[in-house]
Order: sequence, then C-alpha cells, then structure tokens
Amino acid sequence: MPFLPRSRRLLTTALTVLICAAIAACSTDIPNSTLNPNSQFGRDTDRLFDWLLLGGAIVFTIVEVGVLFTIILFRRRGGKGGRPRQVYGNATLEITWTLIPAAVLAFIAVPTVRTIFKYSPKNVPADALKVEVIGHQWWWEFRYTDLGVTTANELVLPVGRTANFALTSKDVIHSFWIPSMSGKRDVIANRTNYIYFKPDSAYAWNGFCAEFCGTSHANMRFKVFTVSPAQFDAWIAHQKTGPQFGGGTDSITAGGSSAAPALAAFTNGKLPPHLVPSTPVPKGLAISNVTGNATRGAQLYKTGACIACHVIQGVSPGIVGPNLTHFGSRTSLASGLYPNDPRHLALWIKNAPAMKPGSLMPALGRSPGTPAGYTDQQVADIAAYLLALK
Ligand code: CUA
Repeated sequence: MPFLPRSRRLLTTALTVLICAAIAACSTDIPNSTLNPNSQFGRDTDRLFDWLLLGGAIVFTIVEVGVLFTIILFRRRGGKGGRPRQVYGNATLEITWTLIPAAVLAFIAVPTVRTIFKYSPKNVPADALKVEVIGHQWWWEFRYTDLGVTTANELVLPVGRTANFALTSKDVIHSFWIPSMSGKRDVIANRTNYIYFKPDSAYAWNGFCAEFCGTSHANMRFKVFTVSPAQFDAWIAHQKTGPQFGGGTDSITAGGSSAAPALAAFTNGKLPPHLVPSTPVPKGLAISNVTGNATRGAQLYKTGACIACHVIQGVSPGIVGPNLTHFGSRTSLASGLYPNDPRHLALWIKNAPAMKPGSLMPALGRSPGTPAGYTDQQVADIAAYLLALK
C-alpha cells in the first residue's frame, strides 16, 4: 500500500467519521432516546439540548479557529528566538476573558432555568393522573392511588392526560427515567420528588433506573404502555377486579403469556422488538419440566412461603415483593429482565438469586443446599398458577 501523505490520511479519517455519523443520524427507530421525544416535556428538553449543542458548537469553533490561527501566525520562525511578549496584568484582556464566559453562562442559564420552572410541581394540571412510584431492590412499584390499583414494573398511561409521579424509595436511591418522555428524577427514601409529563402518542416504551443503586442497578427496567383513554379505563377496570383464576381446571402449558386485555388490543398481541427482553439465562440453570398444573400451583402458593411476601388480591396479603394479582398479564418478569413465559418464570421461582444478582427473593427450588425446596414439577405448577392470573 502506498504511503499516504499525513494530511490526506487525516482527511480520509475525518470524512469516514463524518459519513458514519451522517448515516447513523438517518435512523428513525429510536424508541428509547431522549432525541425522539413523545411529550411536551421531552420536546422542551430536546430543544434545550439542541440550543446548548448549537451554542457549544459556536464556542468550540471560535476557540479552535483562534487556537489554530495563533499557532500558525505566531509560530517560532527560523532565526527569531527569545521570550514572547508577556501579557500578565493586562486589565483589559483579563476583564474581557472573564466577561465572555459569563455571557456564555448566562446564555445557557436563561433557557435552562426557564424550562426547570415551567415543569415545577406547582404547575401540575388539576386533572393529572396521580401515580406513586416506589423504588425497591431491584424493582419498581406503581400505585394509581386515586384509582385503587397497584402494579409493578409495567406502567400503563393514557395518551393526552398528564401523569404526575410522586417518587419515593423503600431502601436505596434510584433514578426514574423514561427517555422518550421526560428527564430523570431521583427516587429517594424519606422524601417525595415529583415529575410529570403528558404522553402524546400511543406506543410502548422502556424505562430505566438511571443512577447506580447496587448489584442489580442495570436490572431495574420497566415498561411504559401509552394507550388511548378508553383502553386505559378498560385496563384500570380490569386491574380493579380480582385475579381471573377460578381455581378450576385451568392448566397452563408452555407457550408464553398474553398481554392484559387493554394491552392486547393495543399491541395486537405482539410486542415491539425493543420491549422483548433478551437477557440470556445464566449458565448452569435448568428445569426439567415447564408444564405445570395451575390448580395444584394455586394450592402450593396458598400454603407456601409466597404468601408472606406477595399480594394476590383476595388470596395473600404479603407486602415485601411485587403485587402479583394480575401477574399473568405482564409481559416481562424480574423488572423487565426476562420474558414472562413458563420457562423463565419457573427458573425464576426455582432460583431467583441466580437469575438476578442481589435478588431479595430466595431460591425456592430443591437443590443440594435446599433439600426442602419445591421439586421442578411443583415449581412448574406455581408458575402455571401465576401465569393464569390475568
Ligand atoms: Cu435502582 Cu439503579
């Protein structure tokens, strides 16, 4: 290969980077990006970002041109040596280079502070939907306090109505973040923070914990379904009913779960790809059977350790873990880590700590260390029962 002159190599590299950046910018399928806002709050933040990026680019260009200009124009020329002229103590220069950054900061501060005040808690519309968000190790609890509905890890919000989130934490600092909707907000114990936005399109989004909170920080995901007001009302009405499981002859076999009625109508029974978890099952975990009997599972649930931690409306009053009343209608489990299907759920019940580091749910399956645990068949039965709770 012929040796390219340095400038030509530099130019080739710069052009390649530029072309790659331009091509990447053409992608429109960015459902989890702050650059694809779907609420006024999101758009205001995005505009602020554009504004600051433009200002930053202008400052960068001026500074770099100045630096290059100085390097070339005042370079040391052959024969001429000695110290350059010293400007220390030059009042005019010092005032100038203090005032310019101050002006730049003011330019940044005005739109930033205006946006912060625009979304202060006192500006929440009176008809806003109240949602309490409680951060746990390592999952999210969502309470629609005015509507008497509690769920976990999957939010459903009506399009066109402001949702006002009151954020607190059970045990550790998290940060609540739905990139497509709004900024982040800290979720702190003994303090309530607020954030609100109005979703303006129906779709499904991912949410994240945006602050390192511990072992399973990266595994504190959640889903947000924005649906029409009618679908939202239907979903709430369904959530208010008890679990749709009569304890009859229901027997769930392998094959996956379906979404809740309101969500099924919205997603057409099929989730957008960005909502399907692809976490691999940790090595060494296996279950011999995933075909369970829901009736047997219900019996095991009611007489087992599960009831101490989980709520199932009309069945168990536990308060430590997620509410499971309509668990079978959720699309994912373990805070968005795995798809909610018989195999993943059975593995989860068998050995939750192995499926998710730091999980407070103990391993319930039988193993050399836990000889009194459930057999694989019993685990599959409990999974069948939970998946039957639509
Ligand atoms: Cu919760 Cu990071």
